[in-house]
Amino acid sequence: MERDFWLDDVQEVLFTEEQIHERVKELARQISQDYQEKTPIIVGVLKGVMCFLPDLIRKMSIPVEVDFIAVSSYSTETRDKGVVRVVKDLDLPLMDRHVLFVEDVVDTGLTLHYLLRNLRARNPASLEVCTLLNKNPRRLINIPIRYVGFEVPDYFVVGYGLDYNERYRNLPYIGILKPSVLFGKD
Ligand code: XMP
Ligand code: MG
Repeated sequence: MERDFWLDDVQEVLFTEEQIHERVKELARQISQDYQEKTPIIVGVLKGVMCFLPDLIRKMSIPVEVDFIAVSSYSTETRDKGVVRVVKDLDLPLMDRHVLFVEDVVDTGLTLHYLLRNLRARNPASLEVCTLLNKNPRRLINIPIRYVGFEVPDYFVVGYGLDYNERYRNLPYIGILKPSVLFGKD
């Protein structure tokens, strides 16, 4: 099957595979510099980081440990407030460790705010955030984000791990879906 099969559903490619890989390399270089001698724990939120996190750590030049947390929204109503349920907790203790929290996209910031509070309660030595995408126009809570891959406009984006109803995670690029796909009409 041809890869461009996806282009039937994609309105615009925001970042190509090459652009993503270049940017991920830059982030990895920066993080490796900042965390020398620190052996950070890289904490990823499933499933959106499923492409970004493995690419990022493989470009790093320092020892790291990796762990994952999986969350799910309680309901549409509570999701709006950023309250999530942890469905898979971390395996590693964070106490006195340098933690780099890796997200796919920060939108309103409510989910991130909630999760950071959860992680901070475990008393890490430091806690910083790295997000592949930053959707700043929709931010409701100001959270310092140390590493940002790309700024994105206020569109629903998919690909490179990001999904729409669990599909499109395996797009090698990041793009915007056609309205007909999102809203089911042409
Ligand atoms: P906020 O920051 O609003 O983000 O609490 C909550 C979660 O919403 C998802 N999200 C997206 N997922 N494309 C996606 O595939 C998007 O454009 C998008 N915007 C927000 C994401 O899981 C984030 O963690
Ligand atoms: Mg997410």
